[in-house]
Amino acid sequence: MDNRPIGVFDSGMGGLTALRQLVRLVPNENIVYFGDTGRVPYGARSSDTIVKYARQDMSFLMQFDPKAILIACGTVSTTALPILMREYDLPVYGVVEPAVAAALKATRNKRIGIIGTKATVRSGSYAEMIRYLNREIEVFSKACPLFVPLVEDGRVHPGDPVLSCLIDEYLSEMVRAEVDTVILGCTHYPLLTDAIGAYLGDGVRLIDTGLESSLALREHLFKSELLSDREGSGTVSYYVSDSAADFKALASVFLGSEIVQDVRRVDIDKY
Ligand code: DGL
Repeated sequence: MDNRPIGVFDSGMGGLTALRQLVRLVPNENIVYFGDTGRVPYGARSSDTIVKYARQDMSFLMQFDPKAILIACGTVSTTALPILMREYDLPVYGVVEPAVAAALKATRNKRIGIIGTKATVRSGSYAEMIRYLNREIEVFSKACPLFVPLVEDGRVHPGDPVLSCLIDEYLSEMVRAEVDTVILGCTHYPLLTDAIGAYLGDGVRLIDTGLESSLALREHLFKSELLSDREGSGTVSYYVSDSAADFKALASVFLGSEIVQDVRRVDIDKY
């Protein structure tokens, strides 16, 4: 048993969709969340910059003596995870492996789509892991860079005209490719589940990376006997690198409830 906190980080707000799942799955754990809201988006940046930012995010969280880290960001998981795993002596979890495992279980016709930021698609991490595990699978990847600003603007409803236009622009090739499973490879995208689901139809299974990675982390903590034995609820502490008030105002869209705790602002350049 280990009552130290779990560290969770993302480039900004998107990781809150994973945090929401994690709190549901392990409610008695203490969690420290860092959202790099001052430097979001990561998804349009070079690999070097993403790795530099991810190291600073890790270094910030390490001061809380976490027992494990969940990288609740598709972009960092696909671009920097192997580097961070080598550099830090604690379990560091990303979203790729759990999402791939779920997609391989879900697909029936062996045609899997992957959507994410430009950096995520450029990394090729999802496609590589899928092919490594099953060479019969055909993978179709598409960068959808404009989904993130749209989600942050609250335009997530299936009838929204701008969203509908973008979904058609980005996902019509997934329809043509006849995929039966799509990995939502960015932690913002679970908010688009209804809209994307309505466009692709009931026959297409959508994989939520935040949910799958939270399930995998819980499993890991259980097997390693690292789950907390705390009675009652754990705490969630929030840190961001830009306005705490702005983060709080938008957070409920991602979390499904208001943040009642204080959100603290940190100078991430110091780390
Ligand atoms: N949360 C990021 C991800 O999952 C998307 C936002 C960004 O580009 O930083 O890839």
